[in-house]
Amino acid sequence: MTIERIPFLSLTPGADAAEVRAAIDRVLTRGHFVLGPEGEAFEAEFARASGAAHAIGCGNGTDAIALILRALGVGPGDEVVVPAMTATYTALAVTMVGARPVFADVEPGRLTMDPTSLQDRLTSRTKAIVPVHLFGQAADLQALSAVATRAGVPLVEDCCQAHLATWGGRPVGTTGVAGAFSFYPTKNLGAVGDGGAIITNDAAFAARLRCLRNGGQVTRYEHVDAGVNSRLDELQAAVLRVRLLRLEAGTAHRRALASRYRAGLDGTRAIPVPECDPGHVYHLFPVQHFQRDDIRARLDRAGIDTLIHYPIPLPAQRAFASMAPAACPVAARAAAELFSLPLHPALTPVQVDRIITAVRAADRPDGSTHA
Ligand SMILES: Cc1ncc(COP(=O)(O)O)c(C=O)c1O
Repeated sequence: MTIERIPFLSLTPGADAAEVRAAIDRVLTRGHFVLGPEGEAFEAEFARASGAAHAIGCGNGTDAIALILRALGVGPGDEVVVPAMTATYTALAVTMVGARPVFADVEPGRLTMDPTSLQDRLTSRTKAIVPVHLFGQAADLQALSAVATRAGVPLVEDCCQAHLATWGGRPVGTTGVAGAFSFYPTKNLGAVGDGGAIITNDAAFAARLRCLRNGGQVTRYEHVDAGVNSRLDELQAAVLRVRLLRLEAGTAHRRALASRYRAGLDGTRAIPVPECDPGHVYHLFPVQHFQRDDIRARLDRAGIDTLIHYPIPLPAQRAFASMAPAACPVAARAAAELFSLPLHPALTPVQVDRIITAVRAADRPDGSTHA
């Protein structure tokens, strides 16, 4: 008997395929591909959905972070604190503006930036702090903002995994000076290519970002700033408009599956990252297991795909070796023990139950499937 594999994710358009094709067709027929009506409409719709006054489309999430840093005047000689457990792109945005990323450890449990470690990493050169709302869950913005405010350093929120997430009921990206989003195809709101956006409630800051992402132009061919070329194209914006309409329902489905996982995994040694805030949007469903590689191999044999987010903590990335980063033991342990179970809007409760059964079996010392 062949078992049907449960893939980690499928990116082929499913329920929304006809609408995605129609949106692409609309753009092709119009023949306007960069900075046009789809992008403008998407920016307004995304700002509204995200609870912010302004949204500015850009090329990808990394650029979104780098553009905010650039708009804040961060550059060579400056330091920016980022968490040790995140997609490496968070820190690459810092190097893109010529500044130095400094790694704060993460809190045990929720695995977002630890306010105490942040405090330890601040120096007179710190020009920004970039907490990451990891796996769909907001960082502890109350504690992090308190440290940032005391130090007089702006918070830049990396919301690349946290579309529609809230912290204490407040939308992510609206506590700091701005929030950066990615629309990479695997994200909760994913394009059919790269895409990104920045949200902010500051009109002057929004205008500066709009100028910077378009080469620093104010009027055609008049550049007042050495900006960058990072725009959200019309095809991506049109697809994102379609998908934004389904984001709330998709998020509700993710939450329902996550609570099914929690109940089903209870009592096993596969420990889910705790839900510290009901505003969690479950971009991923990572669990920590002390025999991670063994469990993953058993799940693979049971036809279940899993991934590791993230296998190498940022201070251990060779890309940053020259910066002699301080050790971050909580992130190091998480990198050795975390793995992610499938979780996406097309996954069914029946599939989740099969995954739970497989994890329970794999968690037994002999891997037996008997009750
Ligand atoms: C937390 C985080 N920050 C930044 C990024 C970078 O986004 P992008 O791939 O759109 O540049 C990603 C996505 O890869 C991410 O997950």
